[in-house]
Amino acid sequence: MPNPASLQGQAALVTGSSSGIGRACAEALAAAGADVAINYHHSAQQAREAADQISRQHGVKTVTIGADVSQEQDVERMFARTLEAFGHLDILVSNAGIQKDAPFADMTLEQWRKVIDVNLTGGFLCARAAAREFLRRGPVPERSRALGKIIFISSVHQRIPWGGHVNYAASKGGLMLLMKSIAQELAPRKIRVNAVAPGAIRTDINRDVWEDEQTAAKLCSLIPYGRMGDTLDIGPAVAWLASDAADYISGETLFIDGGMTLYPGFGTGR
Ligand code: BGC
Repeated sequence: MPNPASLQGQAALVTGSSSGIGRACAEALAAAGADVAINYHHSAQQAREAADQISRQHGVKTVTIGADVSQEQDVERMFARTLEAFGHLDILVSNAGIQKDAPFADMTLEQWRKVIDVNLTGGFLCARAAAREFLRRGPVPERSRALGKIIFISSVHQRIPWGGHVNYAASKGGLMLLMKSIAQELAPRKIRVNAVAPGAIRTDINRDVWEDEQTAAKLCSLIPYGRMGDTLDIGPAVAWLASDAADYISGETLFIDGGMTLYPGFGTGR
């Protein structure tokens, strides 16, 4: 029996994958055999380094593509470039995301819009482009049982309200029903749509928190498992969810958070 977790012969696009969780996803997809398009917004060089390392280590094809996921034309160009490089697309990991934090009363419209634009509208634009391509191409059963796979990288904050970060929490809450609604609409067409919701993963997005001993300890007290997550806690789960090993999973969010969503404050039973 062929290994259902293999992504051999498949092609993936991972947005925001020059570093952090996106990069770990690109790596894990490549480790499972997929060719990977590495999208970046700021650092072409970092993306190039990630791509070189991934193709060297895993013997897959890679391509780097600069694009702002909140811009429709950029997204169209990014998908066209991916198809040009690999000839087909089987997996989208919509990961690109940002934080622009402020106390609610001080939050500017610009901070609100920027985060919604990248995290939510970016997810919409990329998922739409992926769905269009999957539907246009039709099934290729020898590559995958599904017509295509879409995975959103969400956050524990699709469930946990987050004061001081309402734009971010709203974007992730929105992503949850975007994901479920697309999953519901496209399951009959055999497109699987799911999300992974990471907790506190040590990346650049929360560097200010984990670099400071006191705030890092406070954050850890919110994690029953007692440690922050690593990007390696996320990548392999995403690759598995994209594979035929997860072919019956659709519209689901996999929380990877060391128990952060278990309401640890209630842990003593009093
Ligand atoms: C945020 C991080 C935060 C974590 C847990 C993530 O979605 O991007 O900044 O540490 O959630 O609160």
